[in-house]
Amino acid sequence: MHLSDLHFGRGANWERQRVLGEDLLRKLSTLRTERDVDLLFITGDIAFAGRSGDYEQATKFVESIRSALHLAVERIFVVPGNHDIDRTVSPTGLAQVRKDIEGQTPASLPKVLTAATANIIPRQAAYRAWVRDTLKRPTLVATDTTGYRETLELSGRPFPVQVIGLDTAWLSGGDDDHERLALNRARLGELLHDDDGHPLPGLRLGLCHHPFSWLRDGRECENLARDHLQILFRGHLHQPELAVQFSPGLTPLKCVTAGALFEPSGGDMNYAGFELVDLELDLTGRPVQAQIHFWGWRGDFWAPDNHVYPNAANGLVEWKWGS
Ligand SMILES: [Fe+2]
Ligand SMILES: [Fe+2]
Repeated sequence: MHLSDLHFGRGANWERQRVLGEDLLRKLSTLRTERDVDLLFITGDIAFAGRSGDYEQATKFVESIRSALHLAVERIFVVPGNHDIDRTVSPTGLAQVRKDIEGQTPASLPKVLTAATANIIPRQAAYRAWVRDTLKRPTLVATDTTGYRETLELSGRPFPVQVIGLDTAWLSGGDDDHERLALNRARLGELLHDDDGHPLPGLRLGLCHHPFSWLRDGRECENLARDHLQILFRGHLHQPELAVQFSPGLTPLKCVTAGALFEPSGGDMNYAGFELVDLELDLTGRPVQAQIHFWGWRGDFWAPDNHVYPNAANGLVEWKWGS
């Protein structure tokens, strides 16, 4: 299951409860009787202002989803979005980093980004504390600002599942973030390879909040990621989207974007939704086919949805690899 952009801390509680309450949980419980859900991905903007109060509300919701899906806490993966950054913390530090990265080349940028990490991490302190202490997922708190990698063994699967969570949001500052964010290609390369420099075995899934086009080093990071990730799950657009990032001569990268799960009326919500992704894999973990089930909020209830892709009967889109 993939959801994104919850924005806890914004909007009326009654409205949020209506969208994220009983109807959603009842339908997820029913879905759970039809199929097992292996993993829950939440791709950022869990909070609205990146403060601890926002996350207190988020905790109850994540617990309710986890319970409806009968999911162990180790199967939940999160990454931060721009609203998981407390923008009131260290604005001068951010301004300095943004100044420092101006004019850097792809070769020199990673060093500058690595040096900036210590000053910038406090801006996501509440998010990090929530993930580590409340969600009880300390391994999802990266030691730097690029991200984490976790390797899972799922029963019945003769290959590992690699989940690479990327922090595209750490340099977020406001409405002028486009092309001012960065990931750090050198560190990304480490996450995408084993200690000996070889590609990772098994199924390789990436999570991030922003499209790579929002990153200053997006092109070089995407070129690296597309050779290693089989699917990249992302959010931020508040609109679901299936996209294949092509570049001549390079492996295409399949990207699955979730709509906002909740944005109050009057906000910039185009679509409230989430996705269920069924993957058919070969014996080495390579995807053969994906079935993406779009669900949308219809104003009063949740239902399979073809609002964005009108030809997707019952909200279902099939995606094949190798063709
Ligand atoms: Fe958002
Ligand atoms: Fe966002």
